Amino acid sequence: MIDPDRLQIIARNGASGDAAMESADPIIEVRNVTRIYPLSRGHVVRALDGLSLSIPRGSFLSILGPSGSGKSTLFNLIGGLDRPSSGEVRVDGVDLTRLDPEALAAVRCLKVGYIFQTYNLIPALTALQNVAAPMTFAGLTDSEAEERAVLLLEAVGLGKHLHHIPERLSGGQQQRVAIARALANRPSILLADEPTGNLDRRTGEEIIALLCSLREEYGVTLVCATHDLKMISFSDWIAWIRDGRLERLEHRSQVTIEEGHL
Ligand SMILES: Nc1ncnc2c1ncn2[C@@H]1O[C@H](COP(=O)(O)OP(=O)(O)O)[C@@H](O)[C@H]1O
Ligand SMILES: [Mg+2]
Repeated sequence: MIDPDRLQIIARNGASGDAAMESADPIIEVRNVTRIYPLSRGHVVRALDGLSLSIPRGSFLSILGPSGSGKSTLFNLIGGLDRPSSGEVRVDGVDLTRLDPEALAAVRCLKVGYIFQTYNLIPALTALQNVAAPMTFAGLTDSEAEERAVLLLEAVGLGKHLHHIPERLSGGQQQRVAIARALANRPSILLADEPTGNLDRRTGEEIIALLCSLREEYGVTLVCATHDLKMISFSDWIAWIRDGRLERLEHRSQVTIEEGHL
């Protein structure tokens, strides 16, 4: 057993995985994307600076990078929560930058499931109601939504906590509710932004294992932003981001995980 606290990641060689990724069937294509945030007095932040990335359908990609490197900004663009200053973001062949607000809302609701570090559940709603909400928003009847919400909560191991409000659940349990909610409208993509960032190590490992098994079961493409090196051993691809640029992209087979210090 490798001790996850002592993982050392060594790129076996500097070869980039770009060629292999380009040949696969991409579900997400980010092309030369820049996102500039205006600050006061004419200053700007280039949160993304000409980033391109193509993500094969059904794969598990981890995005690693220091705080402030642009991971959440990239997620917001892929998830249709934000638009780039320039460049293209294609999801299933559709350029999100050309969609009107209504069509973009449909992408957010139906194509992409979002999982946040801080769970972002609605505090006044039970687990069941939190998971059912996106389905009623998408047009299911209350009873249809509730029926599927029960199945999803059972799938994440919370069949006995259907009627708990978030504050009566542990962090790990809240994240399980958030994962069930993200799967509500049968998305083809799950975006998880540092999903284990607020959890202790053991709970974080359980959440990673859950995401991996759900990815298989539901056939989704999983994209995780993470500081968590354990995530790498489960990923197909690892994208390293720094200062809003793609620093390198490697297939799991190109990365050696060894015991030692980081
Ligand atoms: N709404 C915003 N307004 C101004 N600057 C922002 C905003 N959101 C993010 N930034 C800046 O953009 C850069 C990238 O941030 P972010 O995407 O949140 O990085 P990460 O998720 O990797 O920590 C940082 O310098 C951050 O301060
Ligand atoms: Mg972030």
